[in-house]
Amino acid sequence: MTWPATVLTLYPEMFPGPLGSSLAGRALEGGIWSLETVHIRDFATDKHRSVDDTPAGGGAGMVMRADVLASAVDDVLTRRPEAPMLAMTPRGAPLTQAMVRELSAGLGVSILCGRFEGIDERLFEARPIVPVSIGDYILSGGEMAALTLLDACVRLLPGVMGAALSGEDESFETGLLEYPHYTRPVIWEGRRIPEVLRSGDHAKIAAWRKARAAEDTRLRRPDLVERHGDARRPPPSGARHED
Ligand code: ADE
Repeated sequence: MTWPATVLTLYPEMFPGPLGSSLAGRALEGGIWSLETVHIRDFATDKHRSVDDTPAGGGAGMVMRADVLASAVDDVLTRRPEAPMLAMTPRGAPLTQAMVRELSAGLGVSILCGRFEGIDERLFEARPIVPVSIGDYILSGGEMAALTLLDACVRLLPGVMGAALSGEDESFETGLLEYPHYTRPVIWEGRRIPEVLRSGDHAKIAAWRKARAAEDTRLRRPDLVERHGDARRPPPSGARHED
């Protein structure tokens, strides 16, 4: 079954962009997922086809109009009622791997891309739209964020990653960063691959990887340790810790 993605944007030419290459591109060609862009400007009603206006209360920039966006959103919600409607905005909840898993296991996704200073807040009150952020920095619009979210979802669709399985060992799947990787040559610029990885002892290798994942997470992402507890302790029930 095809996983349908619909993107509402003022810049439809930005899609599929990088998602037309590599894994996602092959999956798109193979019909594992589909991509439709909806041009927000097609839903403007005045002769200038305007989609934005000056901010109430004053200030810099322009705000996306609720009435125009609602027409575009309603069109997509009518045609794709089973796909959740997200809006990419730095004011959204942070995107997580758990959200990505849930979306890719679902019946597709629709994504509204914000531009300018933002979206008239009344749209979020009046329509079932989930605001999502990809991180604490400001992009020039939601399109790159939508591409990022789609890439993360598409690679998890059945048949996309093939032999790489479903990435269950990867960073964040266990609540930790992943362990570090090495490949040949065995010695590069005087640096050896850790001996344990060449020992063939799978239990020892697993233990080493687990310890490195915990150590690197503590050093680089203390916020994750805070959220998930000390990685060396057994996880609370319900948490994903297969190893
Ligand atoms: N639009 C602008 N910045 C963004 C961000 N960090 N996440 C999602 N959408 C955005």
